[in-house]
Amino acid sequence: MRNRVRELRPLVSMSVGRLNRPRLPGENTLLKQSEERMKPIRPRAFCVLVGIILSSVSMAASVHAPQHAVLQIEANKVVARVSPNHAGLMTEEINHSFDGGLYAELVRDRALTVGIQPKAGALGAWTVIDQLSAAGLALDVTNSLSEALPGSLRIDAPSASPGHRVGIANGGFWGIPVHPSTSYRLSFYGKALREFSGPLQVSIESPDGATTYARTEIPLLPGPWKKYETVLKTTSLITPTADARLVISTEHPGTFLVNLVSLFPPTWKDRPNGTRVDLMQKLADLHPKFLRFPGGSYLASFEWKKTIGALIERPGNSNAWGYPSSYGMGYLEFLEWCEDLGMEPVLGVKAGDLQTAAGSALQPLVQDALDEIEYATGATTTRWGARRVQDGHPEPFKLHYVEVGNEEEGPSYDARFAQFYDAIKARYPAIQLIASSLIVDTANQHYVTTQVKSRVPDVLDDHFYLKVEDAFSKADQYDHYDRGGPKIFVGEWATVEGSPTSNMLAALGDAAWMTGMERNSDVVVMQAYAPLFVNVNKEAYQWSPNLIGYDALNSYCSPSYYAQLMFNTYRGDEVIASTFKGLPRLFFSVTKDSTTGTINVKAVNASRFSHKVEIRITGGGVELEAVGKVVELTGEPRETNSIQAPTKIVPVERSLNGVGTTFEHMFPRYSVTVLELRAR
Ligand code: AHR
Repeated sequence: MRNRVRELRPLVSMSVGRLNRPRLPGENTLLKQSEERMKPIRPRAFCVLVGIILSSVSMAASVHAPQHAVLQIEANKVVARVSPNHAGLMTEEINHSFDGGLYAELVRDRALTVGIQPKAGALGAWTVIDQLSAAGLALDVTNSLSEALPGSLRIDAPSASPGHRVGIANGGFWGIPVHPSTSYRLSFYGKALREFSGPLQVSIESPDGATTYARTEIPLLPGPWKKYETVLKTTSLITPTADARLVISTEHPGTFLVNLVSLFPPTWKDRPNGTRVDLMQKLADLHPKFLRFPGGSYLASFEWKKTIGALIERPGNSNAWGYPSSYGMGYLEFLEWCEDLGMEPVLGVKAGDLQTAAGSALQPLVQDALDEIEYATGATTTRWGARRVQDGHPEPFKLHYVEVGNEEEGPSYDARFAQFYDAIKARYPAIQLIASSLIVDTANQHYVTTQVKSRVPDVLDDHFYLKVEDAFSKADQYDHYDRGGPKIFVGEWATVEGSPTSNMLAALGDAAWMTGMERNSDVVVMQAYAPLFVNVNKEAYQWSPNLIGYDALNSYCSPSYYAQLMFNTYRGDEVIASTFKGLPRLFFSVTKDSTTGTINVKAVNASRFSHKVEIRITGGGVELEAVGKVVELTGEPRETNSIQAPTKIVPVERSLNGVGTTFEHMFPRYSVTVLELRAR
């Protein structure tokens, strides 16, 4: 039996109607049945002959030779301009996307915020180290470090003595990754109690303490809380491993407190409090145009004013997905992430819930949103603009999109949206306001249509979680959309197949779905897959499938990621007219680069047969180079990538010979293809 995904639902949600919806991607039995139905009837002898030939070669090479299939392209007939912001990212704290994911912090439960239950017991990821078992480790709430972080770790080490260390260990987010010749920035707040002065030894070491990867000593000063910082450097001889822990210990008897213990490896662009390099690179490669944040369901628990400023001022929170958020990835970090990757922020603001009536009860949230916009965009003379400067970012950020809530439904949303709309437009007329609209979740049979009638939203946010057959059948969803209506942001979409990351079957569904969004990208101005990230440790994730998987040490991309990479790399800026006749389960989108004249044909063959298609290109003056390029992603439906086999399914490039205004191309079974046809 294939993986059954565990119950996947947010613990807290603004969208009450979805609270008890487990997400169980179904077995895809339809695929085979429907293909059986489409098989043409052929003379028996011929079938037998074909069967012998095919089985003697390889099933994977099976070619079906049915009716003549033709893709007709009208090179000069532009049917739509591709939205410049068409493809972006959606992100939230789910599956340890930030803590234990993109946020490069290696220490789990670095501050034990009172009232927030860590996952692994009262002291979270911390354990005591003392071979004599005389040490005590407790949560101390009598020596507050700050208002936000009142609880600290208290270590009683009466039995510490030279040669016998006592201390605490933290195993990180399912391991601490150690690389050779690497500098790790360690910091913590410490306070000696009862004349204790240390020194403290800090080390990155193996779980049994037998191997030390990096180590240093820090004297503890008497008096109030003090911040200690040092760099732990590994030697060149280490084999990369995540089988490691951070230890803070002493060989002198006494009692001391620590809080906000932090360990950072090198980060993207070397930003302090920054992000993981391998994951950022994978995102950068997609050339995303925008970032929708902070959720998703996570929006409900994201109190942005508590996520800015020094880490010591950030209390963290329990998030919608049942584990603590450190708020290390705060509002400013999201904005800087946008800046680093050249993405437009698409800011989700909290919009209350079903029970929140528009009017005075909603006004604090409206004001909170106005403050949030001012923080990002305001002049340095404004209250929140000045706060941004104080937090280290004098330049205002660009902000053109604000979304009111996430997956809002019910009768109260219309008036709630209107209140936000009026207040935001009055102060920021250029900001485009996005409203919740559709939820089409065929994997869970959950369907919502939310209609804002009292105002005309600039953009509607539609969400699609589709069984694979539905991704195919709904690929034409926007073909007949009213061009006079609001633009569409498909703010969350995925084909629900595979766990923890999607498989090839999902990638076929996703790619078919993308052909529809791209063909209609004059209307579908933005779109983003969800969820983006998953820590693949079994205890770490709540949702499947996801786009990019990782553990503490390694990361990989799903087949769906590679399908998106192909679409994003060969985007073009004009959709040109194309029609395809002849075969089911083949999907196309054809675009052109208006500067170079290059035509990009994206094709999905979701059939279990390879198919030859005649490509006819018409249009006055069209001349193509005889050699183009083909990029192909193929794999068996259930095959996928993983930490162990990260590149099982990746796009392969080769030259495409024989290009002309009429030529034939064989699209392999279960494949996503881009043909790059260069103008002469
Ligand atoms: O993408 C996962 C979840 O799906 C999001 O948090 C929510 O918006 C939707 O229900």
